[in-house]
Amino acid sequence: MTTMNAALCSHYGDASALTVGETNIPDRQAGELLIQVHASSINPVDWKILRGDLRVIFGRKPPQILGGDFAGIVLEADENDRFKVGDKVWGLTEIRKLNSTPGAHAQVTRCASHLVDYMPANLSYTEAGTLPLVGLTAYQSLVHRAQLQAGQSVLINGCSGGVGSIAIQLAKALGAHVTGVCSGANQNLAYELGCDDVIDYQRRDLIACSDQFDVWFDVVGHRNLRTVRHQIKPNGTYINIVKLLSTSLSALLNPLRKQSSHAVFVAPDANDLAALRGQIEDEAIRAVIDTVYPLDDIASALAHNRTHRVVGKLAIAMAHTTNA
Ligand SMILES: NC(=O)c1ccc[n+]([C@@H]2O[C@H](COP(=O)([O-])OP(=O)(O)OC[C@H]3O[C@@H](n4cnc5c(N)ncnc54)[C@H](OP(=O)(O)O)[C@@H]3O)[C@@H](O)[C@H]2O)c1
Repeated sequence: MTTMNAALCSHYGDASALTVGETNIPDRQAGELLIQVHASSINPVDWKILRGDLRVIFGRKPPQILGGDFAGIVLEADENDRFKVGDKVWGLTEIRKLNSTPGAHAQVTRCASHLVDYMPANLSYTEAGTLPLVGLTAYQSLVHRAQLQAGQSVLINGCSGGVGSIAIQLAKALGAHVTGVCSGANQNLAYELGCDDVIDYQRRDLIACSDQFDVWFDVVGHRNLRTVRHQIKPNGTYINIVKLLSTSLSALLNPLRKQSSHAVFVAPDANDLAALRGQIEDEAIRAVIDTVYPLDDIASALAHNRTHRVVGKLAIAMAHTTNA
């Protein structure tokens, strides 16, 4: 077979700028894997790219095929690659390179082999396909950037969505004391995932809270170091994953303070994926799935994600009527 189904973007716009149709299966380059995608997932970056927020990277037209996360089966690999045809893998495509390398909202994708990892043995494709981007974001923020240690405390602002639901579990597995911030409707889930304390932001003014944390992880991204400084310990860390430019600039304006402020942009990384796989196979981290959409209904999934009310993740399930 030379063609596949994919969600194709023709122009910037809302979900109506996407059509699910046939296109050519990508040509695998040396050092890459060709992967039959069984599941991908929706992340806010999908509709942000489609809306045109990242024109500075992608130019006049959006990438033809979006989608960061994938879980699937290796169809082709270099002869001496560590992955073999038939291996189950998961990974994150290079979002900045989506113009030249197709994303994962498709029956088949290609990805540099060194960025890919074996899929966790205890997950379904659907579960695994929801985790790479949010899992790597949580891991790179809490482990690499904040160097969160056992016995430290972390506040996770926006703990019930994609990144937050993994960040709670990861922080707990690292031995931290975890305070989550979410709406009352998601409070029970937050405790179930491992929060020691939960702040319902609809009932309590988060900024009036007098506790102090070693790490203030701003997943919602609507705060900054200045507004939450009183809630961060003297040597503590503030991380924002949404307002990257202003957070980076404010870090430059903060050189004499011991409290640090960081913007994190997720990067595909096979070692970090393998570390997450370990936590998942040890049952310290699980996927939280709100809804599974078929590829044909990806427009509804994008619209659902834009409500900011998703609990955990939205999965995209790929049907395979061909062997690609
Ligand atoms: N820099 C990076 O590399 C990177 C990586 C991943 C994501 N991101 C960005 O990070 C943000 C979060 O991503 P995500 O995948 O976690 O999004 P998401 O799954 O869409 O987040 C949805 C959650 O946000 C919560 N929420 C909405 N308003 C809130 C508020 N005022 N206070 C606390 N929680 C609130 C909702 O919880 P309630 O209903 O309980 O309020 C909902 O469960 C997005 O802007 C995304 O683009 C950046």
